[in-house]
Amino acid sequence: MRPRLVAGNWKMNGTRAEILPLVRSLKDGLNPAPRAEVAVCPPFIYLPLVGELLEGTPIALGAQDVCEEAAGAYTGEVSGPMLRDYHCRYVIVGHSERRQVYREDDGRVARKFSQALSGGLIPILCLGETLAEREAGNTRPVVERQLRAVLEQSGVAGLRAAVIAYEPVWAIGTGRNATPAQAQEVHAFIRDRIAERDPETAASLPILYGGSVKGANAAALFAMPDIDGGLIGGASLSAAEFLAICRAA
Ligand code: PGA
Repeated sequence: MRPRLVAGNWKMNGTRAEILPLVRSLKDGLNPAPRAEVAVCPPFIYLPLVGELLEGTPIALGAQDVCEEAAGAYTGEVSGPMLRDYHCRYVIVGHSERRQVYREDDGRVARKFSQALSGGLIPILCLGETLAEREAGNTRPVVERQLRAVLEQSGVAGLRAAVIAYEPVWAIGTGRNATPAQAQEVHAFIRDRIAERDPETAASLPILYGGSVKGANAAALFAMPDIDGGLIGGASLSAAEFLAICRAA
């Protein structure tokens, strides 16, 4: 069985005053530890605080982004080794908001993925098409192109210590999730593309679904054979919703 993971992407949300009760409720709600691995990805500045609060709990810490270089003159950036220093286990790479708002192209995302690996982090690589791309029938070519960039940079071996998140851009923050069948179709496609290069890696790689996952739709999504958990945005800011999703996984 593949490991299951539910990761909360807090994005640029939360103040100190909001984070303290949220983490407290998660700690209480996830004791005893669930079967699925659970991680939260706070904004950079809160990583030390949340890391300290999570010490001794089964909840892992992740970051939302990483620089494609290990150190040097990159104003405003945060490196993989810095994230390890603050006990991050995961880092999200190539989220569609990074790709769209900050113009990160496939090449940069691939270099970030590679930096995450060399920094000892588990990258959560986000892939996904926009609504226009889906409507033009280009979901598969787009996802394949995004995946290929990473395979060319890091090889299929790079995916052995990684997680993929399929996140259709039209489903993120819109309240409109992909149906379990729509998501399953793309997850299976991604797994097949990887299996062509290395069946073992493909079989053991967790592929998460992200995009308007809530307590109410999580179980149906996670019941699909190639959906191994979720990358959760909005619903990860509510302890009750996030805990319901973790239980579903
Ligand atoms: P959402 O975001 O759950 O708010 O749709 C998912 C994500 O962006 O990772």
